Amino acid sequence: MKKQENIFPIFDKIAGRTEKEQFLNQKSKVIWMTGLSGSGKTTIAIALEKELLKRGFFSQVLDGDNVRAGINNNLGFSEEDRLENIRRIAEVSKLFLNCGIITINCFVSPTNAIRNTAKEIIGASDFIEVFIDTPIEICEQRDVKGLYKKARAGKIKDFTGINAPFEAPTHADIVVVTKNKTVEESVTVVLNAILPLITY
Ligand code: ADX
Repeated sequence: MKKQENIFPIFDKIAGRTEKEQFLNQKSKVIWMTGLSGSGKTTIAIALEKELLKRGFFSQVLDGDNVRAGINNNLGFSEEDRLENIRRIAEVSKLFLNCGIITINCFVSPTNAIRNTAKEIIGASDFIEVFIDTPIEICEQRDVKGLYKKARAGKIKDFTGINAPFEAPTHADIVVVTKNKTVEESVTVVLNAILPLITY
């Protein structure tokens, strides 16, 4: 893509992040959940948001299906499109970050390269990588959206975990092994780890 010329960003003139964090009495961060489709990312994120609200924290959940129905509705699941999907999400998250808001992002983001792109855009110190570690057998067994069945039947190409890769993160900040855990227990793992990071 051609870099834009004749563009004059005014980020330095807009009220700063610190002012907004003070206003909201929280430190903004991007909580980046990665994991297979059906691993429980969005379910955990929604429950986490409720727990954060109860404690006075202001957050926004962003998830693949929602974002792909709107801002990213021109993207598919090739490697190139996934990278562009994540690049845009990371840029959007950065806007929220500068607004003092905690985002809870739920994206398959299947490769180290893709997650590193997000981390670079957002900035390492604001990027909290959370691996929602659910084995593919369980995701496939649940198959909430019926997509694994379709992928196995050859009706979806490039489906993560079936005919497209998923690289488990090796240096995630938080790992949630969901097997034998309730949603509440999984949320507690994330909550306990992030509270010290978002408390002003
Ligand atoms: S990502 O790979 O680009 O990060 P994203 O999280 O936005 O993926 O979207 C994943 C969601 O899209 C899945 O939860 C699933 O509902 C749906 N989906 C449809 N086709 C695919 C596919 N080929 N691979 C993975 N997810 C798919």
